[in-house]
Amino acid sequence: MKLGILSTSPRCYSTRRMIDAAKARGHKPMVINTLKCSIDLQSGKPDLYYKGKPIGAYDAVIPRIGASITYFGTAVVRQLEQMNVFVANSSGGIANSRDKLRSMQILSRHHVGMPRTTFVRDKVDVLPAIERIGGAPVIIKLLEGTQGVGVILADTIKIAEAIIETLQTAKQNVLVQGFVAESKGRDIRAFVVGDHVIGAMRRVARGDEFRSNVHRGGQVEKVELDDKYRETAIRAAQIMGLRVAGVDLLEGKDGPQIMEVNSSPGLEGIEAATQRDIAGAIIDYCAAHTDFPEMDVRQRLTVSKGYTVSELVIPEGSQFVGMTIAEAAFSDRDINILTLYRGKTVIPNPKSSRTLEASDRLLCFGKQENMKSMVPTKARKKRTPELQQLKAEMVEHATAQPIYQ
Ligand SMILES: Nc1ncnc2c1ncn2[C@@H]1O[C@H](COP(=O)(O)OP(=O)(O)O)[C@@H](O)[C@H]1O
Ligand SMILES: [Mg+2]
Repeated sequence: MKLGILSTSPRCYSTRRMIDAAKARGHKPMVINTLKCSIDLQSGKPDLYYKGKPIGAYDAVIPRIGASITYFGTAVVRQLEQMNVFVANSSGGIANSRDKLRSMQILSRHHVGMPRTTFVRDKVDVLPAIERIGGAPVIIKLLEGTQGVGVILADTIKIAEAIIETLQTAKQNVLVQGFVAESKGRDIRAFVVGDHVIGAMRRVARGDEFRSNVHRGGQVEKVELDDKYRETAIRAAQIMGLRVAGVDLLEGKDGPQIMEVNSSPGLEGIEAATQRDIAGAIIDYCAAHTDFPEMDVRQRLTVSKGYTVSELVIPEGSQFVGMTIAEAAFSDRDINILTLYRGKTVIPNPKSSRTLEASDRLLCFGKQENMKSMVPTKARKKRTPELQQLKAEMVEHATAQPIYQ
């Protein structure tokens, strides 16, 4: 596979490791300097120029977009998407992850643990907001900070109010978040690739520092996550629309609390802590996907008039209960079942021999009219969270990779 690594740092550890891992597997990797790309638009022919020449054919590109060039970097990734190049992380996913408010908003509609968070504008709303999240101490965060810069712990409500006012006067938007004290300056970084956590480490803050960022002196140790932590990390990455992600979780008293989902997670700390070939896992994942490219449902929707993605729920007593998918003859109606949700189980691309049960939810792609005809009229108005989520994300242009659990 011809693989591009979109990065402005060809010599940094993560880039070098991915290049070496790709070469070792017989691929042809190249570092593409994000800032040397130009985006070329003309009707029917989106193109990307690199150092003044057309970039040529790539099978896959791994974006490593630094926070300082999010706008241009995501534009380059979006351009690759228009050119049908497989990108390990979508432009929408990267953009989602870059803004702490946006990420928390997207995550909050799902039942995944997260610290109670508020965002206020008016001075008079600050105090009630702090009280809603349980009072002091609180964490105050700049929306676009990284490496622990711009994350402040305020011990009292008075201090919190003063900090928020000062930051707002300086035209900074801030989040106010409940302080997860029981995590005691520790957090978990789970490295997600596709639907697996391929390595995890715990970061422990130095001394009485509460921020565990390695840039703030945090120490790392390998950790084996239990199912709950693993599932939460994978879901967080999927909700954000990221296939390669560093998910940061606090160890709250009620289980994992998602703090942040990083779209260009560093490899050095995690490879050192886990002694695993994380770079190799990312390359293998890209290679597997270029063999079987995913369908981008959202894009497909815009070009296929009359087709839609909808969720069908099989009610008790339905004629379909007990039938196999083949017997229910979905394909005769030009409907493909993308995913079957059964209780907590998610079955992507279910086999036609699978028997349907009451309460099964089927995420389908197909002819709108035919799908409507399968739903009893009174049930039509009900929308389930997955479908709402899907629609919301289609509107937001948030993710090119709708995976919903
Ligand atoms: N709500 C919180 N409760 C307790 N500790 C927190 C909380 N939010 C952040 N921290 C600590 O501060 C560190 C930095 O916060 P984070 O939101 O990840 O910002 P950054 O993007 O700068 O890394 C985290 O790694 C964690 O140790
Ligand atoms: Mg962080």
